[in-house]
Amino acid sequence: MAGFMPAVSFQGVSKTFATPKGPFQALSQVSLDIGQGEFFGLLGPNGAGKTTLISILAGLARASSGRVLVQGLDVQADFAEARRRLGVVPQELVFDPFFNVRESLRIQSGYFGVKNNEAWIDELLVSLGLADRADANMRQLSGGMKRRVLVAQALVHKPPIIVLDEPTAGVDVELRQTLWQFIARLNRQGHTVLLTTHYLEEAEALCGRIAMLKAGQVVALDSTSQLLTAASGSMLQFKTDIALPPALARLARVTGRVVQLPAQDAADIESHLAALRLAEVALQDLEIRRPDLEDVFLQVMAGHSRSNLTGLAGTGAPQ
Ligand SMILES: Nc1ncnc2c1ncn2[C@@H]1O[C@H](COP(=O)(O)OP(=O)(O)O)[C@@H](O)[C@H]1O
Ligand SMILES: [Mg+2]
Repeated sequence: MAGFMPAVSFQGVSKTFATPKGPFQALSQVSLDIGQGEFFGLLGPNGAGKTTLISILAGLARASSGRVLVQGLDVQADFAEARRRLGVVPQELVFDPFFNVRESLRIQSGYFGVKNNEAWIDELLVSLGLADRADANMRQLSGGMKRRVLVAQALVHKPPIIVLDEPTAGVDVELRQTLWQFIARLNRQGHTVLLTTHYLEEAEALCGRIAMLKAGQVVALDSTSQLLTAASGSMLQFKTDIALPPALARLARVTGRVVQLPAQDAADIESHLAALRLAEVALQDLEIRRPDLEDVFLQVMAGHSRSNLTGLAGTGAPQ
């Protein structure tokens, strides 16, 4: 298999934290390989273990068992060399308040032993929309601007593997677009990207392959297109101002006026519509659509196994 070394290999990674209430297992036997050049998504609800897994990858926390390789290098035994191959954007906004933006990027370059880095620093500042804040002190920046600096810091040594932990949590639409354009360009140039995000439409648009974590375990691992294809049934979506009858309210996902109802088959759709008509719920913008990644995510997190999902698709015949 020479020449097919994964960019990142998680091998049976478990992590148990000692807590006042006793040991808590945050990760349980996580095994997955991320190929060179992939755009890989790691999804899961809060507390699923995403940041813990990334901390172990970055060598900031130690696995209780198992190991992690970065381009074949063990993140514990070969810490410095493995760390050099990674650019990690942390979930928390950590920064040194005493430096301005350009200085903090120079310091980070120095940390990785990269000399004569001004051209790349300038490119990072421009690409991330930071050029006119280069002399601003870190303290003076808004949260979104600090986030951009953290991204620039992570990329200052041109790492082959870019790791982003919730990089768009709480940031404006403009930064999201700037950031994704830039990261997608780096990915096209061959950089491997590992991303965690709460924004499932971002993951659906960007990631070629996705792992879903639930309570520290991998519960789904497949290409994004395969996850979408294997999802069962369809979604009945409409807008309304009127309360749903209780039987439908239990099934529905409601966001403001938008209601989404899962339907396994045509008969399901008919019975939903009949119940809505009976309750005199006026519908606007009615559509029937395929499940999107958010629907798949909710199905997986609700505890359906992948084989269940596949079994319910199409005819609904048991397998
Ligand atoms: N240092 C720690 N000590 C004890 N528990 C922790 C520690 N770090 C994380 N946890 C717990 O491990 C679980 C996973 O956390 P985390 O990896 O941050 O999840 P995610 O990033 O997916 O939201 C959570 O229940 C969290 O409270
Ligand atoms: Mg996290």
